[in-house]
Amino acid sequence: MPEEFDKAYWEERYSGGHTAGGRRPNPQLLAEAADLAPGTALDAGCGEGADALWLAARGWRVTAVDVAANALRRAREHADTLGADVSGRIDWVEADLTDWVPAEEHYDLVSTHYVHPAGARDALFRRLAAAVAPGGTLLIVGHHPADTHSAAHTSAPEVHFTAEEAAAGLDPERWDVVAADARSRSATGHGGHAMTVHDAVLRARKRP
Ligand SMILES: C[S@@+](CC[C@H](N)C(=O)[O-])C[C@H]1O[C@@H](n2cnc3c(N)ncnc32)[C@H](O)[C@@H]1O
Repeated sequence: MPEEFDKAYWEERYSGGHTAGGRRPNPQLLAEAADLAPGTALDAGCGEGADALWLAARGWRVTAVDVAANALRRAREHADTLGADVSGRIDWVEADLTDWVPAEEHYDLVSTHYVHPAGARDALFRRLAAAVAPGGTLLIVGHHPADTHSAAHTSAPEVHFTAEEAAAGLDPERWDVVAADARSRSATGHGGHAMTVHDAVLRARKRP
């Protein structure tokens, strides 16, 4: 990983009072996963675990992976406050997604939000796609190139991508693209100010 987004960077982001995603589940996950029947899920780059916790509370059995031990510590602490019924459905895994290989064709849902390892993004998306079980769903969400907020913080080329770029590695014989969108939404910045966020959203279903 490059210096800017290596493990040390993320550990620092999750140290002290800092955060890098927050404790609310991602709006695009809520929009895309609410209609799915619970099964097994992989949350790749789970951060503080808000998405994993939301899924577990809806009955999913979740594997939640992140490179940052500080993020996983926070996630576990939060999970513990929600009771064994929810926390017991999540396996927290500290691993680098650039070399961690998920079980192939295993998960009914593979979800990743705002994870963009340098030089390894496309390979990561391919591995995540391979991890989806037949009939399962792949959900990739990232910063769209129109997203000026994230662009103000970094010019690293791997950070911004379109849904079409995320879909490029999917074999059309095996996948149905359900949504490949550029979506804008309102959000609140760290200083409490209102802003517009632009997401790239890819939802695809692997054929049974
Ligand atoms: C912008 S945060 C998003 C967190 C969460 N997905 C969310 O949407 O709130 C990116 C997350 O990806 C994790 N991450 C970045 N590179 C990683 C890698 N190579 N392997 C595993 N996790 C990684 C970071 O530690 C961080 O938690």
